[in-house]
Amino acid sequence: MCGIVGAVAQRNIVPVLIEGLRRLEYRGYDSCGVAVLADGGPRRARSVARVADLDAQTRDTHLEGGTGVAHTRWATHGAPVTDNAHPIFSKDELALVHNGIIENYESLREMLRGKGYVFVSQTDTEVVAHLVHSLYRGDLFAAVRETVTHLDGAYAIAVEHKDHPHTVVGARQGSPLVVGLGEGENFLASDALALGGTTERFIFLEEGDVCELTLERVRIVARDGASVQREVRTVEAYGGGVELGPYRHFMQKEIFEQPRAITDTIPQSDSFDASLFGENAAAVFADIDNLLILACGTSYYSGLTAKYWLESIAKIPTQVEIASEYRYRDSVPNPKTLVVVISQSGETADTLAALKHAQALGHVHTLAVCNVATSAMVRLTSLSFHTHAGREIGVASTKAFTTQLVGLFVLAATLGKLRGTVSAAQELDYVRQLRHLPAALNSVLALEPQIIAWSDAFSRKESALFLGRGLHYPIALEGALKLKEISYIHAEAYPAGELKHGPLALVTDAMPVVAIAPNDALLEKLKSNLQEVKARGGELYVFADSDTRIASEAGMHVIRMPEHYGPLSPILHVVPLQLLAYHTAFARGTDVDKPRNLAKSVTVE
Ligand code: G6P
Repeated sequence: MCGIVGAVAQRNIVPVLIEGLRRLEYRGYDSCGVAVLADGGPRRARSVARVADLDAQTRDTHLEGGTGVAHTRWATHGAPVTDNAHPIFSKDELALVHNGIIENYESLREMLRGKGYVFVSQTDTEVVAHLVHSLYRGDLFAAVRETVTHLDGAYAIAVEHKDHPHTVVGARQGSPLVVGLGEGENFLASDALALGGTTERFIFLEEGDVCELTLERVRIVARDGASVQREVRTVEAYGGGVELGPYRHFMQKEIFEQPRAITDTIPQSDSFDASLFGENAAAVFADIDNLLILACGTSYYSGLTAKYWLESIAKIPTQVEIASEYRYRDSVPNPKTLVVVISQSGETADTLAALKHAQALGHVHTLAVCNVATSAMVRLTSLSFHTHAGREIGVASTKAFTTQLVGLFVLAATLGKLRGTVSAAQELDYVRQLRHLPAALNSVLALEPQIIAWSDAFSRKESALFLGRGLHYPIALEGALKLKEISYIHAEAYPAGELKHGPLALVTDAMPVVAIAPNDALLEKLKSNLQEVKARGGELYVFADSDTRIASEAGMHVIRMPEHYGPLSPILHVVPLQLLAYHTAFARGTDVDKPRNLAKSVTVE
């Protein structure tokens, strides 16, 4: 999704801006650009190829300057063509970059046309550039402050003007923007990650903030017009961890990092304690009688898995809802609800908006399960659990998902202990199982050669069905999502018991049916479902626990998983599905880490 980098410095800042864009590439984009103030006005380079191409252009054209704004664009309004790429100019006097969507851009465009502005792009962004220009009376900061009062929607912007060679002005509302503080130079970015290696001191702007960066100073004005001082935070370790090493793609690397990521996420202590979720978690947990989980994409599926754990282990009623649905429907708030948001990035616009919506409805008990400790969601919730997946680059989430599952399992066990549904012996057993998980995952990862053998057949299919039951139904959903995201094969998932209510009509030998077959209470039911597929000529690919007595035969291919892993089994069973999607996509030659049309961090609605 769109990424912003801006800088004011006394050195040529283009390499820093380009490096910032490179670090934001993982979010997904389809064009990019950079503009610096030079020769009395903004000069820019834009590309509909990769940041590397933009870099080459800036070198070839000697684009250099100390004040600049740069952008990776993920198209919303207007195709990914050069004219729509940011920075967008107004009258060749100012350059602006924007992340988000301006909802009232059509009426603003008409108003600005009436003032003589000519629009050369299809973007909603161009209205913001012209609006700033039309309101400019010599003070860029004032013009941007006035501009934002006319904007509806979500945005983060950065703008520079020819009359102010050492100034960049930024503003945010609904989309992330951070200020990076340097020595005699200052920066803006969508994400602290973009400035790794440049600075470790950051100000996370609040909703409605407008800021002015000069060489020596950062001024921030809040929505109400008051000057404010925001806390300066040190964010370290953002520089490294992005090398591919021996892997072909980040997704493959991240799949294989899961034993390490899970080791880092499992709590150190031998017991489940409320303090794992924050200082006042014990009081909050004592005051709740149900959970509402809100998330998007893969994080939503970890929420669906958690519902099974929370209701079976902690006996606490749990609802799971897609964030973009919850935020727009009438719901009945309950002061005894713990609202849980799950997010890798902690910045997903719909999840963030759903959290704010819940808070506006009066929900005070909120918890974020998140991979970025400094993210907006963590800052907005009273409790949090930090997953230690490390930076995830591949758009298709893998290690973030399994570490979320660890965090949510710990939440279920902690609530169960507090509510008297988890005995001391059971607690010890859960701790033991969690500790053994990385080793069990390593033995699942060792199945890769068998999965590669399957992927060849899959890569020639156009449709696939995933079946799971109970706790493993959300894993079937996640397996289908992985396959469609990166291989572009149509895939959907069903709880196996629903087969005969529709999807059985689709079963032919042209559509592989993937089944997750753990040795749990539903095994015999699942075996009957598999027979229903076989009897209709379907081709089955089964991931079966070794003690299920499901064996390969005509029309049924079986990969044996380690022995049944109890309630934590979903964390093991999702891994071969990740590998199957990865190797199928690789065989089809898709851009695995940056699948078409998708973004890593979805900061617009
Ligand atoms: C995008 C990503 C998915 C991710 C979803 C939610 O769609 O491509 O991989 O699951 O956003 O992101 P979050 O950061 O909130 O977990």
